[in-house]
Amino acid sequence: MDELQGEASVSVFAGGEPGHEAAGPARPPIDDAAVEAIVAAGRTERDEVVRAVKSSTDVAFTWDYERSRPPLAKLYDKAKHSQWNGSTDLPWELEVDQERVAHELEGANAGRFAALAGAEDSPLRSWGSAQWSQLAVESLNSMLSQFMHGEQGALVCTAQLVETVPWIDAKYYAATQVMDEARHVEVFAHYLDDKLSGHYPINPYLRTLLEAIIGDERWDVTYLGMQVMVEGLALAVFGAMHHLVSEPLLKQLLRYVMADEARHVAFGVLGLQEFYGGLSAHEIRERQEFAYETAQFLRKRWFQPDVWERMGVDPRMVVRLMLEGQPAEERAFSSMLFSKIVPNCRKLGLLDAGDGWLRARFTEMGVIQYEDAADTGSDYATFDEVARDRAETASV
Ligand SMILES: [Fe+2]
Ligand SMILES: [Fe+2]
Repeated sequence: MDELQGEASVSVFAGGEPGHEAAGPARPPIDDAAVEAIVAAGRTERDEVVRAVKSSTDVAFTWDYERSRPPLAKLYDKAKHSQWNGSTDLPWELEVDQERVAHELEGANAGRFAALAGAEDSPLRSWGSAQWSQLAVESLNSMLSQFMHGEQGALVCTAQLVETVPWIDAKYYAATQVMDEARHVEVFAHYLDDKLSGHYPINPYLRTLLEAIIGDERWDVTYLGMQVMVEGLALAVFGAMHHLVSEPLLKQLLRYVMADEARHVAFGVLGLQEFYGGLSAHEIRERQEFAYETAQFLRKRWFQPDVWERMGVDPRMVVRLMLEGQPAEERAFSSMLFSKIVPNCRKLGLLDAGDGWLRARFTEMGVIQYEDAADTGSDYATFDEVARDRAETASV
């Protein structure tokens, strides 16, 4: 995570932590160099098509084919029955009104947009409804593009897990997740291409995180980073989006993707519970620190300079305004992202190991209230919308 830490230390993610905006001593003035660094770091590499990342993990064969882990075997069986076809199981024939979808999904952005519109020296003060609608559309394209890239991150990480995880039941299961993630990349790309208006390149913050996760030489850290942290966040975000959106194609796409993601998080919890039982206190502390660093990274604010540039606005002006304050909705959304991560860390024993080190950190972050929320180690079956739809169809 050195690179990840390094970026954070040069104030790439400046802007204060959620919950720390309103009170306390006066904020120091925002200097031009900090704004410039954020804009430069957030700019995507538009011409890059392939990116090679060094991975130094050992690949593990196992000659023990005994099915000795019933919970993983059950999960594998569920995954085999719950496969769906991204090209035929979703209603792609439906027309999509992208402006309507964009407005429905403004969510946490709505408060930010309102604050930007009202700020005294804002370049957006004179905007009319057409420009605000276009901004909502660009933000949606950008957000769904990052989901698509994140899904590819999951595809690549899971393919690596097939190689590195030492148990046969886990290799079987991870292989089904590779197929799931390929399908997720496919459906997000299809939606962006056919129903919205184009892709954004991967955000450098997301790319840094994915590279830190896949480049770690400890297989279980890749497993923790992707299956518990990133997948946990994705499940929370997709759930929030599914709640907000009424467009039937995207709604069903999210229902089906979430059904898969719930199994993926369960795989993380079931696999790591066993492995962490055999680690030393020092090794567990390293995993707690990784979980904390990743959590810190996941809730950093993304300033999306590309979106503002496409709107013809100097991103430096917008970043400066955003650094001056963070709307309450955005802070609440930022905490909600942890509603799956915190209970799953608790289930793994990471919250309370080592005198509760991670509990103290999550308390400081203001997300500990989720520790008793439903974990996804066992309730993945309740997310199985694919099986539910099939049962309904069969009974008609
Ligand atoms: Fe996925
Ligand atoms: Fe996943």
